[in-house]
Amino acid sequence: MIPLKEAIAERHAKAEKMPFNQKMFKGELSPAQYANYLKTQWDIFSTLESHFTLPHPDFERSQSIQADLEELGIEPKQVLAAETYVAFLKRLSQEDANAHIYLNYLALLFGGQMMKTKVPGSGKMYAFEQVPELVASVRSIQKDSWAGQANLGLDFIVDIFEELDTLK
Ligand code: HEM
Repeated sequence: MIPLKEAIAERHAKAEKMPFNQKMFKGELSPAQYANYLKTQWDIFSTLESHFTLPHPDFERSQSIQADLEELGIEPKQVLAAETYVAFLKRLSQEDANAHIYLNYLALLFGGQMMKTKVPGSGKMYAFEQVPELVASVRSIQKDSWAGQANLGLDFIVDIFEELDTLK
């Protein structure tokens, strides 16, 4: 079987190059646009955290995302693509959800660490005390058979970036 990282490489590159994501990476998002993004992250992470078991308790992000939103003090807009992803996640088994946990938490631990200084606010969502320990907790359960679910997850993420770009 193809190693998981290789199996998701094409869609990872697509997600990374999405215009909204590029703007975020260059520090070009307005606080209102970033609040919309944070809300999509809250939708995803609070669903994963309330429905499934995480490989490490320190992954918990619901409260830090909530704090980031409160710091911005801007009411985020509704993003239907995030709600579609959430509805999909809620119906998964723990095993299938693990692929989405891999996808979304490693995104914060890798690309996210580069994003931290570029976004409005203090970026509590990206603050982890023990990055290597958290990465290891995912690596210890990781399976190449997660590729299908992880790629589906990236398709949802691309849809979310597309919709975010249509909001002001
Ligand atoms: C500007 C946006 C992004 C950048 C710059 C970025 C960058 C990176 C880099 C450099 C790595 C490799 C780390 C390493 O192997 O040492 C990585 C891994 C990863 N990224 Fe991203 N990324 C971005 C967006 C995303 C998004 C949107 C997702 C999914 C929600 C994602 C999910 C992942 C995953 C799951 C890995 C781990 C792959 C593995 O080693 O198994 N990334 N990212």
